[in-house]
Amino acid sequence: MMIQFKPFDKQDDHDYEAYVAVHNAVWPNSKASAGFMRRFDDSAEPRFLNERLLAFAADKPVGAIHFGHNFEQDHPQKFWFELIVHPDYRRQGIGTALYERMSAQIAPHDPIAFESSTRENEPDGIRFLEKRGFELGARQIVSYLDLGTFDPSLYAGMQQRAAASGVEILTLGAYMAREPDYVRQIYDAHHEAERDVPWYEAGGGVSFAFFARQFEDNPDFLPDCYVVAVADGQCVGLSELWGSEATDKKLYTGFTGVRRAYRGHGVATALKVLSLTNGKKRVAANGQPPLVETQNHETNPMLQINLRLGFVEQPASLVYVKRLFKP
Ligand SMILES: CC(C)(COP(=O)(O)OP(=O)(O)OC[C@H]1O[C@@H](n2cnc3c(N)ncnc32)[C@H](O)[C@@H]1OP(=O)(O)O)[C@@H](O)C(=O)NCCC(=O)NCCS
Repeated sequence: MMIQFKPFDKQDDHDYEAYVAVHNAVWPNSKASAGFMRRFDDSAEPRFLNERLLAFAADKPVGAIHFGHNFEQDHPQKFWFELIVHPDYRRQGIGTALYERMSAQIAPHDPIAFESSTRENEPDGIRFLEKRGFELGARQIVSYLDLGTFDPSLYAGMQQRAAASGVEILTLGAYMAREPDYVRQIYDAHHEAERDVPWYEAGGGVSFAFFARQFEDNPDFLPDCYVVAVADGQCVGLSELWGSEATDKKLYTGFTGVRRAYRGHGVATALKVLSLTNGKKRVAANGQPPLVETQNHETNPMLQINLRLGFVEQPASLVYVKRLFKP
C-alpha cells in the first residue's frame, strides 16, 4: 500500500481533523479535539520545537506523530513525542517511518533524552518503545469516577475541616471576580506544589505564559469546576477539573496541589469534593453526569485520596524514557 507522509500545516483545519481521526481511532476512550490541539500549538512558546507529521493511505489519515521539546522539563536537549498508527494499518512500517522522520528533525538539537507514553493495555506501543531502547520511567495510575454515583453529602465534613484551619475553598470563577492577579496567584501555588509531585526526574515546570493561556478563550476551562484554596491573602492550593471539547461525557482532573505550609488539614480533599460536586451538575446530552478521568503516579498520595472518593483504577499510563549518552 502506498503511504504518503505530509508535513503538518498549522493553518489548515483539515490537518487538525486528520490528526484527531487517527488519535480517536487509537484512543477511543480519550477522545481529542481539533480545538484543543490548535490551542496547544498556538500557546507553545516559540523557543520550543513543536511539530506534527501525518501519514495517509490514499486519502485516509492512518498515522501521526506530535513531537518537540519536553516543555515541562524545559531543557534544550530533552524531547517528547506522541506516535499513533490506526489499528488497521499497523506492522507495515508506518510507525517506524514517522519515528525516523522525527529523529532526523530532532538530530540537529543533539538530543539527550526522549519521553513518550503508552497504556498498560497497548502491547503494540509497549513493544515498539522497548525495542527501540526506551525504559519505563513512571507508571501513572489512570482512574475514573462516575459522577452519577458520586454522593457529595458523604464528604460534607471535609469542607468544614478545611474551613476550621482558616482555609477558604472556592471556585476559580468566584476567585477571579475578586482577585485581579488570580493567574499569578494560582501559578505560584502550582509551581510550589508541583516540585513535590513524584516523577522520574526533576523538571522545570510549565512557564507562566503557557499557564496563563489556559484561562483565555478556552472552552475546556470551566470556572465552576476549577477550584482554589485561599488563606492569609494568597492562593495556597488548587485543583483543576477541565471539560473536553471532544465529548460532554468526560471531565479531566489535572493538577491538584497544596502549598507545603497548608498540608495535613484536608485541603486537597476539600478542593476535590467541591470540584466534583460542581462537575456533577454538568449533565451531558445523554442526561447523565459525566465521568471524570485522572492520572496519578503510583506513589502519589493523591491516588489514595482519589480512591477514597470513589475513583476506580483503569489500565495505567506508562511513561517511557530513552536516554542517549554521548561518549
Ligand atoms: C506504536 C505504534 C505507533 C507502531 O505503529 P506501526 O505502524 O505498527 O509501527 P511499525 O509497523 O513501524 O512497527 C511495528 C512492528 O511491525 C513490524 N513491521 C513493520 N513492517 C512490517 C511488515 N511489513 N510485516 C510485518 N511486520 C512489520 C516492525 O518491525 C515492528 O516490530 P517490532 O515492534 O517487533 O519491532 C502503534 O502500535 C500504535 O499506534 N500504538 C498505540 C499508540 C502508542 O502506544 N504509541 C506509543 C508511542 S507514543
